[in-house]
Amino acid sequence: MDWPRTIPILTDGVITLRPLEVEDVDAVLATSLDPDSAAFTSIPSPYTRADAVEFVDASASKVWPGFEVAIADADDALIGTCGLRIRDEESAVTEIGYMVSPWARGHGIATRATVLLVDYSWAIGARRIALDAHADNPASRRVAARCGFVEEGVLRSARLGKGGRRHDVVLHGLLPTDPRP
Ligand SMILES: CC(C)(COP(=O)(O)OP(=O)(O)OC[C@H]1O[C@@H](n2cnc3c(N)ncnc32)[C@H](O)[C@@H]1OP(=O)(O)O)[C@@H](O)C(=O)NCCC(=O)NCCS
Repeated sequence: MDWPRTIPILTDGVITLRPLEVEDVDAVLATSLDPDSAAFTSIPSPYTRADAVEFVDASASKVWPGFEVAIADADDALIGTCGLRIRDEESAVTEIGYMVSPWARGHGIATRATVLLVDYSWAIGARRIALDAHADNPASRRVAARCGFVEEGVLRSARLGKGGRRHDVVLHGLLPTDPRP
């Protein structure tokens, strides 16, 4: 894979994926304080302003072995974050994750961000993209399905979530030859 040396800026004309900036800290904090964000991701809980500052700082220029970017709206305001990581370099497998700000959900933002990261993965030579979702996270599973990912199996009780709750994990995969929805 031709992995980037700097964080790419990707846009579909509605959203832009761009490096995180200090100005994003408040929106990252508000997004991460949402109960669903805590329940379905591995962010710290309770989440503090210091966590947001550290996340933005650590993600601002890091590209290897993956990058986390802001999902920005037309006014360049943060309405979520998403990431592309290498899952298996030798086999050219990448992995996508996302989190949309509660005030921006239900408008196709995660779907748009995922499509941008899918297209980018193919452009840099990925041969497979993985996406994991908790079985009890229908919104995330719907995003995967809308982007053409195929459900490939369930890892039972595979992830320890917040409050000691265990989650089944649904594995999704996408190949360049899969039909585009
Ligand atoms: C999952 C998440 C990223 C989706 O973001 P979003 O921008 O609202 O997603 P989209 O609008 O692109 O698509 C959401 C889809 O799920 C559907 N959906 C939302 N809640 C749902 C629910 N409770 N049950 C079934 N479907 C649901 C929506 O209707 C939509 O499908 P549609 O367009 O066919 O109607 C967002 O809810 C989120 O950030 N959740 C917390 C963090 C998280 O779960 N991250 C993913 C970890 S794998």
